Amino acid sequence: MLVKDLKQIFHKELDAIYGKDEVFSFFFMLTEQYCNISRLDVALDTKISITKEEQEPLFKALESLKQNTPIQYILGETEFYGLPFKVNANTLIPRPETEELVQLVVDAYPKQNSKAKVSILDIGTGSGCIAISLAKNIVPSSVSALDVSAKALEQARQNAVLNNVEVDFVAGDILTMTEGDSAFKNITFDVIVSNPPYVRNLEKLEMQANVLENEPHLALFVADDNPLLFYKAITGFAVQHLKQNGQLFFEINEYLGPEMIQLLEDNGFKDVQLKQDFFGKDRMVKGTKG
Ligand SMILES: C[S@@+](CC[C@H](N)C(=O)[O-])C[C@H]1O[C@@H](n2cnc3c(N)ncnc32)[C@H](O)[C@@H]1O
Repeated sequence: MLVKDLKQIFHKELDAIYGKDEVFSFFFMLTEQYCNISRLDVALDTKISITKEEQEPLFKALESLKQNTPIQYILGETEFYGLPFKVNANTLIPRPETEELVQLVVDAYPKQNSKAKVSILDIGTGSGCIAISLAKNIVPSSVSALDVSAKALEQARQNAVLNNVEVDFVAGDILTMTEGDSAFKNITFDVIVSNPPYVRNLEKLEMQANVLENEPHLALFVADDNPLLFYKAITGFAVQHLKQNGQLFFEINEYLGPEMIQLLEDNGFKDVQLKQDFFGKDRMVKGTKG
């Protein structure tokens, strides 16, 4: 079968769901991954043909796309902060706004003159995207990462190997962690960063079907009546486990900026700042331990 004929089938079946440009881009990614065909060849509609075996994963991917499965789960990987990350149904697909959170932290720790390592803890690490990007870009540093999901941690460990960095991955529940049983007893950090679950159930209506049906709800949702549940627990933890002048960084729900400022100030943080993402939405908060 000619690649250009298969491309037509993708457009016929998917354009109504995703739009022509996005389908074009999916098709590129899939033929590159499964058939090692260059983007240029696909774009130019050359007379390249593919075998029956090569067609098989492409038709499977077409069916998955029809069922709203995100392309990142179909390919099993994505790019974040210029680095490759494996993802599966146990890990949230890293988002561009989280790259902005990583940038905020990286900007706060420009290349170190001293040999002292910046100690960093990422809470709710998922695929490991924040922890691994920071380990790669803040040098020297020592990075730990916590998640309650053993399956997410398994994927995050593989991503650390893939990116050739060392991260100390820890299994634990930030909501029930007490000072006594904590893996972090008597340990303090320069940086605590987190992108915890923050979508209220009432906001489900605003979400796309492919997110709702495929991404792990453990990573996304909080109850309507306690949307700051994770932020309160993490801020309390940070009061105990940040060094003096250590910094706390959060990705936040765009609707809860003022509440987040209040939370950090109530817990004694100084220089609390609310930051907007690329779209101008309140998306990050940082504060310094007083
Ligand atoms: C919004 S996702 C963020 C994942 C990743 N850091 C990112 O930015 O793409 C939240 C993460 O918190 C984890 N999580 C949920 N409840 C938790 C808990 N009680 N303790 C620790 N981690 C938790 C989820 O498994 C998920 O990986």
